[in-house]
Amino acid sequence: MNDFQYREGELYCEDVPLSRIAKEVGTPCYVYSHHTLVRHFRVYDSAFQNIPHIVAFAMKANSNLAVLRMMAKEGSGVDIVSGGELFRALKAGVPPGKIVFAGVGKKPEEIRDALKADILMFNVESSAELQAINDVAASMGVKARVALRINPDIDPKTHPYISTGLKKSKFGIAADRAIEEFKAAAAFSHIEVVGLHAHIGSQLTQVAPFVESLKKVLTMVQTLAEQGIPIRYLNIGGGLGITYSDETPPEPKDLAAAIFPLVRDLKCVLIMEPGRVIVGNAGVLLTKVLYTKDGETKRFLIVDAAMNDLIRPSLYDAHHDIKPVYENVARGAKETVDVVGPVCESGDFLAKDRAMPEMNAGDLMAVMSAGAYGFVMSSNYNSRPRVPEVLVHEGQIHVIRARESYDDLVHGEQIPAFLS
Ligand code: LLP
Repeated sequence: MNDFQYREGELYCEDVPLSRIAKEVGTPCYVYSHHTLVRHFRVYDSAFQNIPHIVAFAMKANSNLAVLRMMAKEGSGVDIVSGGELFRALKAGVPPGKIVFAGVGKKPEEIRDALKADILMFNVESSAELQAINDVAASMGVKARVALRINPDIDPKTHPYISTGLKKSKFGIAADRAIEEFKAAAAFSHIEVVGLHAHIGSQLTQVAPFVESLKKVLTMVQTLAEQGIPIRYLNIGGGLGITYSDETPPEPKDLAAAIFPLVRDLKCVLIMEPGRVIVGNAGVLLTKVLYTKDGETKRFLIVDAAMNDLIRPSLYDAHHDIKPVYENVARGAKETVDVVGPVCESGDFLAKDRAMPEMNAGDLMAVMSAGAYGFVMSSNYNSRPRVPEVLVHEGQIHVIRARESYDDLVHGEQIPAFLS
């Protein structure tokens, strides 16, 4: 359930008609529902209430400061993957004791900043990285808490670009080398091994791969305990899928129920890193039809949002439902169209060969399920200013990121003197 519903003939976000947002803020823009965000967080968090746990929101999915502040107020931590994400998380008021830092390519400066902030732990992806973290920690005279990220070699049955737990993937430490690597980690002077991490992929629509992965790492936790390396934090990653069209992913309570029997007797705090499931269906991209065009073989709806604003359809062939803002338009006779943007590439589309009700120039539409990996993956390609982000809360429209200006586009650029 989310708060984007038709009411009195038009699509609303909570109590605010999207047409009002289009009028006040302009299009294109991202619109998030505060109520849906909070509800999704609480549904996820409370599903695990019988297990000691920390929800570390995967902020790569949506890193707006207002969204992060909202998460922090709800008691969430964050999963970060860069120094920039650390900066945002701290600025938004996320407690450092609930920050975990993943990623295969952490730079020494990023490691130093994270140690300075005293984050909960690093999720370490290789032995070379362990050495780097040890060296930085030694130079600062501190000990770095780490979890080793294990690659359990499980097929999550999702898009290859977002599968991370297979042998061929760049992520994590191979399962058959895990115990050896944990022993090596424990021997470092400035490393404290506290956890084990496994994340197998994103947009998972079944519980089975999570359970399979967990079973595999639990045997390691057991072996490690026997070898004097107790695991205090078990991080099961994120990855729970959402409904974009007709998927029926498990709910957080289904995931919790499936793993509860396996972890009930563990003396561990569970960490989970959901991203998409919290924010995906809490946001839409609001856009307007600029022109209709009858090509040689198909009809195009040319809208003011493009692949630079939402790249998922172009990059992953991802499906996003598209709803006309006015219900009378939505009820119109269907035709098969491509919904495309103004960017100069054939790969610029929001939907291909989609049955859509007849729409005309000036009509508004909402590209649904765009709250996760939407704005954060947007770019200035074709020198298009990035679009605003709006948070709806109790009938009010809050612009939580302003539309970029043309001056913003050239910020930091310089013409060297020899060209003058
Ligand atoms: N933890 C780790 C270590 C991750 O790599 C990811 C996502 C997550 C947690 C959060 O996964 P989620 O709960 O959101 O599925 N841009 C792609 C998704 C990339 C996901 C990368 N890692 C997309 O638009 O589908």
